[in-house]
Amino acid sequence: MPMNKSVEKINLQAKVFILSCLVSLFGTQVLVAQEAGDHQYTSEAIEAGSRVYTQQCALCHGPQGDLIDGINLRLGQFRNVQSDDDIRMVVSQGAAAGRMPAFDLRPEELSGVVAYIRAGFDPEGVAVKIGDPLRGKSLFEGKGECADCHRVNGVGPRTAPDLSSIGAIRTPASLQRNIVDPASALLPINRAVRIVTRNEETIVGRRLNEDTYTVQIVDSQERLRSLIKADLVSYEISDAPSKQATTLSSDEVADVIGYLLTLRGLR
Ligand code: HEC
Ligand code: HEC
Repeated sequence: MPMNKSVEKINLQAKVFILSCLVSLFGTQVLVAQEAGDHQYTSEAIEAGSRVYTQQCALCHGPQGDLIDGINLRLGQFRNVQSDDDIRMVVSQGAAAGRMPAFDLRPEELSGVVAYIRAGFDPEGVAVKIGDPLRGKSLFEGKGECADCHRVNGVGPRTAPDLSSIGAIRTPASLQRNIVDPASALLPINRAVRIVTRNEETIVGRRLNEDTYTVQIVDSQERLRSLIKADLVSYEISDAPSKQATTLSSDEVADVIGYLLTLRGLR
């Protein structure tokens, strides 16, 4: 009998232990979920926006958002608009000397219609918040420390990918993932490497390209080098994320994304 009791006690302790583990696990999961939520519009917002759009906007812009020349709302092609606040402004003040009237929407409706546009008119889509490119540029160069590693339009180091045309090749969602959760966004080719050659040179750098016989890297002195694999004694490719998740706030990340989207390789 006393034996059974102590077994029960141990069981209880184990249960409490497992429970506290679960709590801490779920605790962090909730945190991560909130993080993503801060950077994106909710599906409720997208849905509310879809109703507003059908009732108030589709008449002129069309169900696919492409009826007005030079503008495709679904694909995010605008004349002057860049940030989410720009869209809010156009909707609440009107545009083109009254050809688009001003709308008096409630704040949820206004955010909803922005979310619907950012989600590409897809009720199940991802609607990333897009902020002010000018603020984003100064965050990129200052507090965000992005320019410590990245090169833009000929300025900055080569140790990380050149971002001069990143806005033309990546979606807002992919940019956001790289900034907020770099470990999940690591590009297969862009990895840190450590190489030892036959003549005993150790080279640390970042892989740019690779084929069966050669590998191209940029080394720690920012030199581009092409190495023949047969000449290598060791070749290690790191799986570690290349940087920490940013400490910028969700509004600041939105501004940086706004800036990155303006980088389209045209100067
Ligand atoms: C009566 C017609 C009409 C309605 C209704 C209308 N628009 Fe427009 N919208 C226009 C016209 C015309 C333009 C082009 C302005 C220009 O030439 O710069 C425009 C431009 C825009 C732009 C792009 C501005 C730019 O500079 O890139 C956005 C965004 C936009 N509309 C969103 C909306 C939304 C959201 C709604 C519904 C809440 C809406 N519009 C309803 C006629 C309309
Ligand atoms: C410590 C150096 C470092 C810092 C700081 C840094 N990055 Fe990066 N970043 C990298 C490296 C290395 C890669 C390539 C490997 C990868 O994808 O993670 C990269 C990849 C990227 C990519 C993906 C490029 C592509 O082709 O898709 C984007 C976008 C990006 N960084 C933006 C930023 C922004 C914005 C900031 C500032 C908030 C920043 N980075 C800060 C090193 C850095």
